[in-house]
Amino acid sequence: MKLCMIGTGYVGLVSGVCFAELGNDVICVDKDVSKINKLKKSIIPIYEPGLEELIKKNYKAGRLKFSNNLPVSIDKSNIIFICVGTPTKKNKYEADLSQVYAAAKEISKCIKSFKIIINKSTVPVMTGDKVEQIILKKIKKKLFSVVSNPEFLREGEAIRDFIYPDRIVIGTSNKKSNKILKNLYSPLISKGARYINVSRRAAELIKYASNAFLATKITFINELANLCEKLNINVEDVSIGVGSDKRIGGRFLRAGPAYGGSCFPKDTRALVDTAKKSKTSLSVINTVINSNDKRSGLLLNRINYILKNKIKNKNITFLGVTFKANTDDMRESASLKMIPYLNKKGAKIKYYDPTGKKTEFDKFKNVQFKNNIKDACEMSDLIIIHTEWNEFKLIDLKKIVKKRNFIIYDMRNIYSTEKMEKQKIKYFGIGK
Ligand code: UGA
Repeated sequence: MKLCMIGTGYVGLVSGVCFAELGNDVICVDKDVSKINKLKKSIIPIYEPGLEELIKKNYKAGRLKFSNNLPVSIDKSNIIFICVGTPTKKNKYEADLSQVYAAAKEISKCIKSFKIIINKSTVPVMTGDKVEQIILKKIKKKLFSVVSNPEFLREGEAIRDFIYPDRIVIGTSNKKSNKILKNLYSPLISKGARYINVSRRAAELIKYASNAFLATKITFINELANLCEKLNINVEDVSIGVGSDKRIGGRFLRAGPAYGGSCFPKDTRALVDTAKKSKTSLSVINTVINSNDKRSGLLLNRINYILKNKIKNKNITFLGVTFKANTDDMRESASLKMIPYLNKKGAKIKYYDPTGKKTEFDKFKNVQFKNNIKDACEMSDLIIIHTEWNEFKLIDLKKIVKKRNFIIYDMRNIYSTEKMEKQKIKYFGIGK
C-alpha cells in the first residue's frame, strides 16, 4: 500500500519505517527541511534502538522516502497518517491541537481521489470529528474518511512494540476504510495482534484511558512503596504477589521515581481536561497526577534522611538522567526536579548518562557531566541510580568508588539488598 506519514517525530518515523519494513511504500513528510535532508543521509533525530538500521535498510530498498513536499506526497498515497505533536498548552491541562488542525487544512487542499486520513497523534475525543469538518469545507464526503488509529509504542521498545502489538485499534464506522486497514495490518494480526474496530470517539478515548490506567498502576505501586518503607516490607515482593493475579497483571508495577516522559504526564492532564469540558469528574486520574507531582519531593526528603540532612558539599552522582532507560528523552524526567534542588542545597553533582550530556543542566555551576561511570562515581558520597540501563546493573562500585563510606540510593531497585549487605555497602532502595 502507499502511505504518507505527516510528521517525522517519534510516532511518524517509527510507524513509517515499520510499515515500510512490512513491504509498503512510505513517504515520511516534514516541514523541517534540515531534518528531512538529515534523514535522507540516515542521520536520525531521535535515539531509538534499532531504528537507524531499519531506516537505512528500507531507504536503500526504495520503500521508504523522505520529503518536504506534502501535496505531491499526498497525491502519491492512499492512506495519510497525521503524526504531529499534541503538547500540553502552556500552564494548562488542555492539549494543543494546532498542528493537527494545520495538517488537516493542508490535506484538504490536496485531495483529488479517495484517501483514508488517520489520526495517529494522541488526540482528545472528538478531534477526529473536527478534522472531518475542516476537510469537508473543501472536499466532498465520499472522497475521504477520517479514522482514529492510536499508537501504543514505548520509547526504547518502539520497533518491537510496533511489530508485535497486543492490539490494533481502528476507530471508524466506514466499512471500506475498515477493510483496507485490516488488510494493512494483516501481517501483525496474523502474528497474534487483536484487531479492534470501534467508533472513532471510542478509539480516541482508548488511547488516553490506556495511558491513564498505566500511570495509575505505577502511582499505586509508588504509594505502596512509601508504606513498605515504613513497615519494613519489600515492595518487589508485593508487586509479584499482587501482579500474579491475572486480573491485575504484573507489568507496570515497578516502583520508582515519578513517572515521566512525553506521554503519561501530558495525556493524564488532557484526559482530565476532556472530562472537565464534559462536566464529568475523573477524580482517580486527578489524584494520580497530584501524587506523581509530589513524588520527587518525597524522594528528595529521603535523600535528606540518607545524608542526615547534610547535603551541602556532598558529592552526589546520578547514573542516568533521562525519564527512563533506553531513551535520550529528558521530558518530565524526575531528575529535572531533583538535580536543581540538590544543587541549590549545595551538593556537587556529577552525572553520567549513556545518551550523553544534557543541555538542561548547563546553567548549573556545580552540575557536571562525565562521559563514563568511573569518572562520575569515583569521588562520590552518594550514588543515585536514576534509570535502569543494563550497563548499571553489574558495576563493581566497591572497586570504582574511592570514598570508603559511600552510599547507594537505587531508585529502580536494580540491586539486591542482600548482595549489598554482603559487600558492606550502605544501600537504600525504593519501597524496601
Ligand atoms: C507510554 C506507554 O507505555 C505507551 O504504550 C504509549 O504508546 C506511549 O506512552 C505514548 O503514549 O506514546 P513511554 O512514555 O515511552 O510509553 O514510556 P513507559 O515505558 O510507559 O514509561 C513511562 C514512565 O513510567 C517512565 O518514567 C517509567 O520509568 C515509568 N515506569 C514504567 C515506572 O516507574 N514503573 C513501571 O513499572 C513502568
